[in-house]
Parts: sequence; C-alpha cells; structure tokens
Amino acid sequence: MSNESLANLLKEERRFAPPAELAAAANVTAAAYAQASEDRLGFWAEQARRLDWAVEPTETLDWSNPPFAKWFADGKLNVAYNCVDRHVEAGNGDRIAIHFEGEPGDSRSITYAQLKDEVSQAANALLELGVTKGDRVAVYLPMIAEAVVAILACARIGATHSVVFGGFSADAVASRITDAQAKLVITADGGYRRGKPSALKPAIDEALTKVDGVEHVLVVRRTGQDTSWTEGRDVWWHEITARQSTEHTPEAHEAEHPLFILYTSGTTGKPKGILHTSGGYLTQASYTHHAVFDLKPETDVYWCTADIGWVTGHSYIVYGPLANGATQVIYEGTPDTPHQGRFWEIVQKYGVTILYTAPTAIRTFMKWGDDIPAKFDLSSLRVLGSVGEPINPEAWIWYREHIGAGKAPIVDTWWQTETGAMMISPLPGVTETKPGSAQRALPGIAATVVDDEAREVPNGSGGYLVLTEPWPSMLRTIWGDDQRYIDTYWSRFEGRYFAGDGAKKDEDGDIWLLGRVDDVMLVSGHNISTTEVESALVGHPSVAESAVVGATDATTGQAIVAFVILRGTATETPELVEELRAHVGRTLGPIAKPKQVKVVGELPKTRSGKIMRRLLRDIAEGREVGDTTTLADSTVMNLIQSQLPPAGSEG
Ligand code: WT7
Repeated sequence: MSNESLANLLKEERRFAPPAELAAAANVTAAAYAQASEDRLGFWAEQARRLDWAVEPTETLDWSNPPFAKWFADGKLNVAYNCVDRHVEAGNGDRIAIHFEGEPGDSRSITYAQLKDEVSQAANALLELGVTKGDRVAVYLPMIAEAVVAILACARIGATHSVVFGGFSADAVASRITDAQAKLVITADGGYRRGKPSALKPAIDEALTKVDGVEHVLVVRRTGQDTSWTEGRDVWWHEITARQSTEHTPEAHEAEHPLFILYTSGTTGKPKGILHTSGGYLTQASYTHHAVFDLKPETDVYWCTADIGWVTGHSYIVYGPLANGATQVIYEGTPDTPHQGRFWEIVQKYGVTILYTAPTAIRTFMKWGDDIPAKFDLSSLRVLGSVGEPINPEAWIWYREHIGAGKAPIVDTWWQTETGAMMISPLPGVTETKPGSAQRALPGIAATVVDDEAREVPNGSGGYLVLTEPWPSMLRTIWGDDQRYIDTYWSRFEGRYFAGDGAKKDEDGDIWLLGRVDDVMLVSGHNISTTEVESALVGHPSVAESAVVGATDATTGQAIVAFVILRGTATETPELVEELRAHVGRTLGPIAKPKQVKVVGELPKTRSGKIMRRLLRDIAEGREVGDTTTLADSTVMNLIQSQLPPAGSEG
C-alpha cells in the first residue's frame, strides 16, 4: 500500500495519553525499554525471578543451535506450584482465584487455597490413572473451572497437555490425539451454549473409534445430560477426584520440560502442534500480564473472554494471571445469552477492572447498539485489551468511548500461538496510544518490518513483520516435525522469525499490523492490505462489518471485492453501494476503491473469529466454495450465496 494511503489512515492523528493516575502507579515505566535494550538477556533473567524456582537457573539463553532455543535450561520449577501453592504459602489462600459464571446463571468462587486442593486431587487422580511425567493428555472441555484445574494438574505432574477447542469436530479431535499420542482424554458430558446443554462426550466417543493408545476418558459432569459410557475406559471426574488426598507434593521439572502442545487452527494447511515448554514460557506469560494489564493482584478483577482452547486462554486465563496471583472471572457461555448485555452484566456483577477481548466481539457489540452497555455500571473498568486480529480504529474508538468511559487505555496486543505470549503492545501507563496500532515491541522483544530482500524498511513504509531475537516464550518446535518448524518460521528471512503478518512502521516507528500476508491484494501493481480497506468500510456509518478479498481480474491482476454487513438501520440500495465505493476511494485513495461491494447477512469465520477469506475469494471468482469444515457456522456460506446474484451478473 502506498505511503499516501497510510497517511490517510493516520490522518486524524488521534493520540491518547495514559491517565495520570494510572501512569503514576504503573507496574512498568518507560525505564523498562531502556533497561532491556541495554541488556536484553539480563532483563529476562531478572523477569525469571518473578517465579519461584526449585533450582535457580544460572544460564539465560542457549542459542547455540538455532532456531532451537533453550531458556533458563539449568533451572527447575513446578509451573502449577508457581500458579497456585506459592500464593497460599504467601498468606493469600483466601483470595479468590476464579469467579466462575456459568451460562445458565450458576456461579462459584474458588479461592487459591481451594484451587490448591482441587489441583492436588486432580493430580493424584491422574497418577491413579497411570499418567506420569512426559505423557500427553488431551483436554476437550467447555469453559468451566475444571478446565483450569485439569490443565494445572497436568502441569503439576509433568504431563504435557494438548487442549482441543470444544467446538471442534470428532475428526479434528482424532487427528490431534493421534499426532500427540495422548494416553488420556479429559472431557465433559457437555457444556451450556446459547441456553441449551451442548454435548461434548459423543465427539470423543466417535474420535476414539479412529484412534489407538487412549487408555482412559475422564469425564466432568457439567450438564447432567445422558452420556454413553464405556466401562473400564470412562471415569467420572467427580468420583475419582473425591477419593484423592488434597496433598500432592509438586516435583520440580526442568525449565525446558514440555508444558503443552497447542494445534494452530490456521485458515489454511494441516494443523501444526505448537510446542511450548515451562520456565521461559511462564516467565514471559507472567511478565507481560503484569506489564501490559498493570495487574494489581490485591485489587484488580481481571476477565479474559477467550476460550481455554486458544492460546489466549492458556497464557492469559491459566498461566499468566494465576502465576501473578490474580482474581479473575471465567464465563462459560456466549455474549448474547440470555440477552445481549450479558458481558456488561458480568462486568458490573464482579466489578471487573481489566477486560481482555477480541475485535470481532467489539464489532458485534457495536452492531447490537450503544444503548446495551449503557444500561450497566462499567465504571470499574480501568484497562481494556484487544487481541486476535488488527482492531480497526472505528472499533477501537467505540471500545474506548462506550466500554472504557473515554478514559481506560486500550492495549492492542499482537502475538501468536507460536510466540506464546504478547510481543507488541502499548504499556497502559507509558504509551500514548494510537487507535489501530499495536505500536511497539515490549521490553526485551525485538521486532521490525523488512522488505522482500530482508532489508529493514524506513519509517513510513510497509513490509513483513519479523522477530529478530529469540524470546523466552517462543515455540520450541512443531511437535514431531523439526524440519517443518525451520521451514515455516525461519526460512523466509535468514536468521529471523517470520510471523506471516504484514505490517507498517509509521513516522514515529510505531507498528501497524496489516493482517496475514496471504491476505494482501495486488491491484495494478500496488500492494493493498485487506485490513485497510475493511477498516475504511467499517468507518462508514452504514457498515457494521466487512471482509475484503482480491479476486483475479484480467486488467488489474486482482480486483478488490468487498463483502459488507450493514448496520441495523441501513438498507441496501444501489446508491449506498456506490457511496461505499466512493467512501473507500476518499479514505484510502482511488486505487483502493472496491470494484464490487456485496451486501451480506453474515461473514464466514473460524471459531476463533478469523475471517476465512479463501471462501469469499471462491465466491468472488465464481468458483465452487472449498472446504468449510473449520467454519464456526457451516451454514453461513449457503446463506451468503443465497443473498447474492449469480456470479458474472454484475460488474
Ligand atoms: C495471528 C495469530 C494471539 C492470540 C490469538 C490469536 C493476528 C493477533 C493481533 C493484533 C493484529 C493480530 C495476527 C497473528 N493477530 N493479535 N493485536 N493485531 N493482528 O492467535 O490464532 O495464533 O493467530 O493473529 O495475524 O499472526 P493465533
């Protein structure tokens, strides 16, 4: 994309200074950047001391065999001890660790002392079932407190967990269990979803007809629905844990002991088992949660709305917050059950101070209307986080105004399953924020933007986002496939980790993420990012959401085709479509004007909220729609097609 259109994107020059009160008491100040750039490894060695080590590490980074890193390799620790026991030992056993809010309205608050007992009982139950250090355990659970307990029980005994999102099909579960060679599966009868019990166990039963090596299935009773049972294999969680001792002595594991495998649910290609290990991962998860959310464990109430099945749930529901002794909310259900104000009702009920959610959710709330959050008391909120995709400035401003009362700083956190923890983000007490920009690599992190020839681009230009130094929570490999690890991440640019994202640096050197590079369009020789055109469209008062693709075009190489969802009050007319095209032209320049604007009722998204542009490209190019199995809602493509005139009948 041309510099001219970047300037357009930034033209409003809106800047928001940190609130003075927050800045004055912030956990991390600007000094951290200077300290880390002077001595990056010394900085991380210091952050590692946030944790309790059974054996203190003397080595920080071993990078003698790149890209295979070892962090704190001669140290030993128990991750679960760090997340639970040490807070009890420090006298904080009565602090609430988890406020669980079930979708039907049931709730349960669990103190750190109770969590320690439950994790110990679960660890003892795993041992009784023959699971030992180094075994893999698949976890397929709804968003209930037992998911956290199960994960920590695995970590405690050194079993490597592989959480599979509860919305995935039996086939997706089967291929992940096979790849990880899991010995045990932990699941539930079901969970509550949109006001109804939704079964989980049948998917495991079906998956296990296709998989060898699973000895037991541990089943949490959540909904009480009828559940088929395989005697000898299936075990009720409540029965086996109830008879265990609440004492379990945590053993120290090596810093590089495999903590978890998480399969990336990419929009393309075969899933990759991303491997994370213990000491470096927990160090960065804990530090970033402390720094980016400014968490004060005595007073804050933190809520991350992600599912435990994604990396956000691992790093910012389980490991980061619990390592930091946070009090947090976990919510089982969907934001519109039983009403569209459910999230705000939960914020009000628990006095949530820090909220971490995704742009796709924010845009949905915008669509539902400003009056819904306005009915609730959101005055407790003091820091707002965003993750998962670029947040368009329009949604950013809405989030700040309608959720943050025009005061709470927004931290737009860029990271990936592979990076394990946040990498690029504002710091709420330091950064003057810019709507739509993740801004700057965190202290101790080295990121830049390069061109095709791996040359760093000057400020004001765009290219590929790369990470130039190893970081503590980096993936260690792709499970069972070192070569694929090298090929996927370390081969495009010699000696650098290529994230797969496009990005720009503005005149201040701040980073603006532009989406996956597979999503860049080439129109008449100009690179135009789908994100920028989408952002321009959502900037129009009639548009609620949009997705943009490049369709093959005989004259321009690719032509921009935009799919838009209108806001409740707008109706589709030829004039409006024309107006939207002109609006993009005015915002980004004539080259970015979509050739076609198609009004639809829904957009195809994966279950983590990422738009599957590949399917929209199929429509735009008049092809039969490809594989839709990773769509959150498989009926969406039929709906979209039924709303559009046949391909070729418009131009
Ligand atoms: C991809 C990673 C990070 C946990 C959830 C997603 C996109 C993520 C941002 C952001 C712009 C973002 C990138 C990245 N992404 N956060 N703040 N701004 N883009 O994890 O499924 O591994 O996806 O999500 O494209 O590469 P993931």
